[in-house]
Amino acid sequence: MCSSRTYFNLTEFVSILSGIVNPNICVDVIGKILNVRELVFVPSVEHSQGGYFELCFGLRDTECIHLECRLTGDFAVEFYDLWKRRSRNTVICIIKFVKLELSQEHRWRCTNVTGCTRIMLNPDLSITDEMLCWNPENDQVPIITRKENAME
Ligand SMILES: *[C@@H]1O[C@H](CO)[C@@H](O)[C@H](O)[C@H]1NC(C)=O
Ligand SMILES: *[C@@H]1O[C@H](CO)[C@@H](O)[C@H](O)[C@H]1NC(C)=O
Repeated sequence: MCSSRTYFNLTEFVSILSGIVNPNICVDVIGKILNVRELVFVPSVEHSQGGYFELCFGLRDTECIHLECRLTGDFAVEFYDLWKRRSRNTVICIIKFVKLELSQEHRWRCTNVTGCTRIMLNPDLSITDEMLCWNPENDQVPIITRKENAME
């Protein structure tokens, strides 16, 4: 079931944030991308390259609930490149097989898992069109630059 390109086990953000979703099971999420921060290099002695890249952004669902996403390593860099090359301002994003983790603020957020997580920006699917049509506001995605995020 999970190998099909268009099979998604979409999980509601409200269920994730309320903590009822089992964090040991990867889930799929869909939302509109908001607040893509700068790609930052986080120094860490545990990493062979002296640190790792990290990128954070938000997803908003049709209930206007925000879910924070944190990508690390090459995955963060790849996403950032894709994002910069996006062809339209409004980007609907599907992330397959995300892992749920608690942030330092004790809020559930999603993160990538090596060799497993897949990201699709505005995939050619009816669900993308539905979400694009639903969006009532103008076609602007604010890009917030917050370099100090790396210092957390
Ligand atoms: C779908 O996700 C839910 C959690 O939201 C999980 O309990 C369930 O096992 C998942 N189903 C499959 C087929 O992966
Ligand atoms: C996210 O993906 C990158 C690149 O594949 C990897 O280096 C990093 O460890 C992944 N994050 C997790 C938590 O597995």
